[in-house]
Amino acid sequence: MRRGERSLQDDDTVKKEWDSAAEAWVDFVRTGKDYYRDGLNNPATFELIGDVKNLAVLDIACGEGYNTRILARKGAEVTGVDFSEQMIRFAQQAEEKEKLGICYRLMDAANLGEVSNHHFDLVTCFMSLQDIRDFRKAISEVARVLKEGGRFIFSIPHPCTEQIRLDKHEGKVRAVERYFGASEYTIDWNMKRLTKHFRTTSFHRPLAAYFDALYKSKLLVKRLVEPQPKQAELKRYPGLQDVQVMPQSVIIESMKRGDDIHNA
Ligand SMILES: C[S@@+](CC[C@H](N)C(=O)[O-])C[C@H]1O[C@@H](n2cnc3c(N)ncnc32)[C@H](O)[C@@H]1O
Repeated sequence: MRRGERSLQDDDTVKKEWDSAAEAWVDFVRTGKDYYRDGLNNPATFELIGDVKNLAVLDIACGEGYNTRILARKGAEVTGVDFSEQMIRFAQQAEEKEKLGICYRLMDAANLGEVSNHHFDLVTCFMSLQDIRDFRKAISEVARVLKEGGRFIFSIPHPCTEQIRLDKHEGKVRAVERYFGASEYTIDWNMKRLTKHFRTTSFHRPLAAYFDALYKSKLLVKRLVEPQPKQAELKRYPGLQDVQVMPQSVIIESMKRGDDIHNA
């Protein structure tokens, strides 16, 4: 993986990047090649999520639905949304094969349109908020569709280490050049384990920008986790060695509160 020059892609181009990545992404995710997911982020995120039986759950930027299906298998009533037609097509195909009752919708996470207010107990966003250009609008939409007391749990590449880590894949290590401020960048997905190399666009923001957006949407942060691999997972996925010393991701759990807390 390599972080490239700032590219300034329009939304349609960003969406098309995910459309053309979809087939290789499906192989990457479904055949156990995404070891950061299987050995690091999913164990920690699902531990934080806890019991979802009978909860109404919305998974935003759900991709081809790998984690959406895990939520449904755990007994949640799940809706998955993504803005890539191809990702949603693969997700729906999987639903036809294994009927879990998941409802998939083609939607921009920053505009959940006709999704009802105060409907969901839990909204998840797995390693995707950094890919959503208008993350503030997406977070305000999450707050709108959550019930009071409902939770929003999301993971992102750790904004403090993502550039160091992406460069490390190229055999170089250098300090983060510009942590503060927002920047758009291209990721070259060029690992050997992919069936096809592809490019996507992501958006760097400081951790404080995410916290500010949550605060403004009345989502109060409950917990923050910087996952580390357990011994068994390290044995199984030796590629996770470096995550013992530096976080790859951060997972944040927040909760929708009423007006009182902000007036206090
Ligand atoms: C890194 S993938 C992660 C997918 C999924 N959450 C998972 O864990 O497999 C990022 C996903 O975000 C989606 N995405 C990016 N921007 C979006 C937006 N504005 N609205 C909805 N989906 C978006 C992409 O289409 C892609 O499927």
